[in-house]
Amino acid sequence: MKATQFFISTLKEAPADAEVMSHKLMMRAGFIKRLGAGIYNYMPMGLRVIRKVENIVREEMNRAGAIELLMPVVQPAELWQETGRFQTNGPELLRVKDRHDRDFVIQPTSEEVVTDIARQELRSYRALPKNFYHIQTKFRDERRPRFGVMRGREFTMKDAYSFDRDLDAASKSYDIMFKAYTRIFERMGLTFRAVIADNGSIGGVRSHEFQVIADTGEDAIIYCPTSDYAANIEMAEAVAPAAKRAAPSAALVKTPTPGRATCEDVAALLGVPLQQTVKSLVLATDETNDAGDVLKTTVWLLLVRGDHSLNEIKASKVAGLNKGFRFATGAEIDAHFGCKPGYLGLIGLKQPVKIVADRTVAQMSDFICGANEVDFHYTGVNWGRDVPEPDAVADIRNVVAGDPSPDGKGVLAIQRGIEVGHVFLLGSYYSEKMNATYLDETGKPQLMQMGCYGIGITRILGAAIEQNFDERGIIWPAAIAPFTVVICPIGYDRSAEVKAAADQLHDDLQAAGVDVMLDDRGERPGAMFADWELVGVPHRVVISDRGLKEGKVEYQGRRDAQATTLASADLLPSLKAKLAA
Ligand SMILES: Nc1ncnc2c1ncn2[C@@H]1O[C@H](COP(=O)(O)OP(=O)(O)O)[C@@H](O)[C@H]1O
Ligand SMILES: [Mg+2]
Repeated sequence: MKATQFFISTLKEAPADAEVMSHKLMMRAGFIKRLGAGIYNYMPMGLRVIRKVENIVREEMNRAGAIELLMPVVQPAELWQETGRFQTNGPELLRVKDRHDRDFVIQPTSEEVVTDIARQELRSYRALPKNFYHIQTKFRDERRPRFGVMRGREFTMKDAYSFDRDLDAASKSYDIMFKAYTRIFERMGLTFRAVIADNGSIGGVRSHEFQVIADTGEDAIIYCPTSDYAANIEMAEAVAPAAKRAAPSAALVKTPTPGRATCEDVAALLGVPLQQTVKSLVLATDETNDAGDVLKTTVWLLLVRGDHSLNEIKASKVAGLNKGFRFATGAEIDAHFGCKPGYLGLIGLKQPVKIVADRTVAQMSDFICGANEVDFHYTGVNWGRDVPEPDAVADIRNVVAGDPSPDGKGVLAIQRGIEVGHVFLLGSYYSEKMNATYLDETGKPQLMQMGCYGIGITRILGAAIEQNFDERGIIWPAAIAPFTVVICPIGYDRSAEVKAAADQLHDDLQAAGVDVMLDDRGERPGAMFADWELVGVPHRVVISDRGLKEGKVEYQGRRDAQATTLASADLLPSLKAKLAA
């Protein structure tokens, strides 16, 4: 490829709306061009990377026995009504009407359509297992599209769906995908971790997220440096403290805490560790009839230690909260506590509330909590003595670094990650709703057991850059770089020798199957080098008149601090060795 036959468009400055480095660099290097919020043109340079990512994904999916098809972007609403997702999905699901006023969705994912295919096509146990996948445009009307292609509204995903005769077999399909994903991200040269993830409302069987490690990642990854334990923040268990609850040693005292509405302020005022305080969070659950009228509301008080924070996903698994909860209104809080938030506690309630204590809180003694009176807290509070034991004790908090690992093999650490893939053992969630059955050996219909497996193709570009950049620009892992080698001739337009040598090298590399770019624009060296460092091509060869006179060329890897001079004759073998490495 020659630069004059390609399209190169670089910027000195990133647009103001680009917050993270990958977004800035992708805009500056001309990989993407914004069309609307969360909607981008993939420009020629960016598309080359997307295609390389797709090729690796496709090769490994095929190798793992998955079969490619292509399902439509625009999908009839009827299928989505069958699973109920047309009704239950929020505004992220883009719904459109056609000229006949029929409902359609712009697909955010394809479970419905693929299950419809499976129930028609996979009729017998002999047809199973099957794993269908496609690489397709998705649309999710994200509330906050940001970070360029990392959280877009329109983006490209590889989504695969496995169909099996029972859970054991489905579990094997899942394991095969897990291995394929590991190969895929290894081949891309990314540093990543597979973490145990929550199954959400699907209530499936097993799920892992593949997270690219990067400080700017949106997700917190919890892992144990001395074992292979890794989970996302929703799934990382905060185990109960090993020590038993100590016997009460302090008297219960109502203590003035004027204007101190946070645990931090109260601890500072009283000169006690934050770990002695307890934070109150008030939730509510509504029982409704079929018409949706509220029959009964229950108010809940959730307690976490002052230095801990509530995890809402964990809370949503507590019996009684697992059918959905909301934060209590000001009026509900007033009616039950007779006080406004900041001084809430569990002594002197106006009306009964359900009390859920985090495992750590349940072990505390002589603790501090609000007195249900503005400007007052109780100190020396003890379970059993001053207040009844909590209605429930559960893991409802986020783990923090230093907590014991749930596998008992060390302590937890936290790092940030970007979710690039997600594997999910669904079980029969969709097949039940859509009646996707096959006939077993005895001719009896059985539900298919499913798994679904996503990879954020376009998000991978952002994630790879977040992990690989410097002050000069992007440093692509070789496997997904837009070009593997760039030839930068100095004076291509002026020197016949330089032109001849550069053209020759270009042709030789191309013949050897190397993805090579020859910058024949006749740019000044500084501008030319800056462009290709920004674009992030891993290998650069500089050809100049002076070098040629001495029979030499210059080579520099994108991560090298300096160029090395090579004999012209050694260049090709040396480059080939580097590319093979
Ligand atoms: N808005 C988005 N922009 C870019 N990629 C996305 C977006 N949403 C999801 N992806 C990618 O698609 C993969 C599969 O999506 P999925 O797990 O269904 O989404 P989510 O984790 O948002 O529920 C994710 O792991 C991620 O890499
Ligand atoms: Mg996900």
